[in-house]
Amino acid sequence: MSIALVILAAGKGTRMDSDLPKVLHKIGGAPLLHHAMLSASALEPDRTVVVTGHGADLVEAAALDFDADVIAVRQPEQLGTAHAVAQARDALAGHEGDVIVLYGDTPFITTETLEAMIAARAAHDVVVLGFNAADPGRYGRLITDGDTLSRIVEYKDASDEERAVTLCNSGVICADSATLLDLIDAVGNNNASQEFYLTDIVGIARDRGLSATAVTCDEAETIGINSRVELAAAEATFQSRARIALMESGVQMQAPDTVFLSYDTIIGRDAEIEPNVIFAPGVTVESGARIRAFSHLEGAHVSRGATVGPFARLRPGAELAEHVHIGNFVEIKNASIDEGAKVNHLTYIGDASVGARSNIGAGTITCNYDGVMKHKTTIGRDTFIGSNTMLVAPVTVGDEAMTATATVVTKDVPDGAMAIGRTPQDNKQGFARKLFAMLRAKKAKQAKG
Ligand code: UD1
Ligand code: CA
Repeated sequence: MSIALVILAAGKGTRMDSDLPKVLHKIGGAPLLHHAMLSASALEPDRTVVVTGHGADLVEAAALDFDADVIAVRQPEQLGTAHAVAQARDALAGHEGDVIVLYGDTPFITTETLEAMIAARAAHDVVVLGFNAADPGRYGRLITDGDTLSRIVEYKDASDEERAVTLCNSGVICADSATLLDLIDAVGNNNASQEFYLTDIVGIARDRGLSATAVTCDEAETIGINSRVELAAAEATFQSRARIALMESGVQMQAPDTVFLSYDTIIGRDAEIEPNVIFAPGVTVESGARIRAFSHLEGAHVSRGATVGPFARLRPGAELAEHVHIGNFVEIKNASIDEGAKVNHLTYIGDASVGARSNIGAGTITCNYDGVMKHKTTIGRDTFIGSNTMLVAPVTVGDEAMTATATVVTKDVPDGAMAIGRTPQDNKQGFARKLFAMLRAKKAKQAKG
């Protein structure tokens, strides 16, 4: 059956106290909105509609960034969740099948849970996702009668008896598209908040002789983010799950609590991650690679058997081939390092390529930026770059070539050549001893006077 998603993301998120729309705050390096869209995308929806309002331009851009086929619609005034879904009416035109309504600020609903809701639709017209709350607080309450759901009552409108119910509304609802839009037409705003409540469709459906039921999931899935404290707690939940998933797939971590992952981090079996490593988005680490302590990786690919760190930084476009060694205080950006090459100490390699088995000496810098434009450095295979070489890009050093220590390379170095560009050394006999004596005498005189 074909599925459409409607994701509600028009709310302001007042309690975040932020200029950024709530759904764009991040967990695991990705906006809350992406997390909400991610598990639902596994259902291969026919279309996805995102309802925006506060910060609409930014939210729309983020939605399109996740999926270029998203249909963004605007809710000019936030008159309630039913009113928000109503904005998707035109975008849903012609869709025959079910609609699942999700919230953009609820990042952890799993694909399995959504599948269970779709399965429950076989026997019921409206399916609501509920959970048994440890502390039901101000959630809407699900009023049930055996297997069937009679209605949903919002906390503000509930009687004491209804407030005592612990089965709560997550907000996720599934119904046939035409049925859903029909029911929404009948929703009014005669309630404590004077809002058009999506939750009212359950009671209306029952009055019309349609059936409704609740599917339940773990409370941990239904967490919505309303404040920065909740955002941090959700981040912790995300990190804990991501670490466990990696360890269960064969990744070694000595101190998993100190390793921070992104939503898209990929790490192969038998890779070893030492303590205090941060994986920003876009990182792939292959099997058997080793990421040593206090390294920071972003947008980088580390191949089999390579070693990175301790204290290394891989920036976007760092492409390390098999058995490459990147050592301490080395930064690699937009550069490919070929098989077996070594960049072991205190070096910046940016906008460059380094050939197989080449060795880059300590303190080497690719001077890639002239203040206006970036330029490329090309280093061949089996080449030796002496310590403290400055490579003034654009420049090429050939295969089996060499640069002498402290050379400032401003011209291309041919294959097999050695570049040496530094002031010749001159040893002045006895000069150091004389100078020390003079300076010590001066200091002694100052101490007296
Ligand atoms: C809603 C449910 C409540 C449920 C709770 C779960 C209703 C009436 N109530 O309450 O039963 O227990 O979620 O968290 O649905 N939104 C819009 N436009 C609007 C209003 C809301 O897009 O006009 C979006 C918000 O951005 C948010 C979501 O809908 O993503 C939920 O809105 P919110 O105001 O947080 O609903 P709650 O009062 O928490
Ligand atoms: Ca809420």
